[in-house]
Amino acid sequence: MTQMTENAHLTEQLIDDIADALAQRGFIQLPHFLPVWLADQLLHEAKRLASIEFKPAGIGRNNSQQLNAKVRTDSTLWLSGNSAPQQAYLNWMEQLRMGLNRRLFMGLFDFECHFSHYSTGDFYQRHLDAFKGDTLQARSNRILSTVFYLNPDWGKNDGGELLLYADEQVSPLLIVPPVFNGCMIFLSDTFPHEVLTSRCDRYSIAGWYKVNGNAVEHLDA
Ligand code: OGA
Ligand code: MN
Repeated sequence: MTQMTENAHLTEQLIDDIADALAQRGFIQLPHFLPVWLADQLLHEAKRLASIEFKPAGIGRNNSQQLNAKVRTDSTLWLSGNSAPQQAYLNWMEQLRMGLNRRLFMGLFDFECHFSHYSTGDFYQRHLDAFKGDTLQARSNRILSTVFYLNPDWGKNDGGELLLYADEQVSPLLIVPPVFNGCMIFLSDTFPHEVLTSRCDRYSIAGWYKVNGNAVEHLDA
């Protein structure tokens, strides 16, 4: 029997920790983000949909697919909320959105996210999720990036680490293994990042909190 998705609630402590880290450093690495039963359900969901519904990244929401082809090679599927685990994840992220707005006045308005699947050989080159000062541009109303990982068997030789950089720095600020139930949250226009070539099947959910195109409120770390 599946658990009631309504039962998943973030603790005030977790929201406090995330808010404090974002205000002080602009990023946080969380080793245990979701209740394990929910992470399990999302992994099954990702695997179930990967073979039938995931599409090469870039298709769907923007027109720069050709451009993307050399930059990233993963396959993605936007969460629509049309299953219990997807609803539970979107609900969890909505609680976090409201909690962060209450604490940091970030004016986060919306959240969108997609499953990603990296097969062996797939990568995502160094990039920013949003560009400073471009908040009014359609693709750049992303304020906060979230990446949630779904790989219970990940090992040190499997590649696919997320490298997070400070500005133009050459060496990474942080190397994040994509291990099960881990989550990275960081300011979208502040930290360039890349996904190293994966040497196994790598599943994740990448998401973005966005501001309303009209309301440009912004947190400076
Ligand atoms: C992205 C991204 C990082 C990761 O999808 O924009 O940077 O670790 N993903 O999957
Ligand atoms: Mn990114």
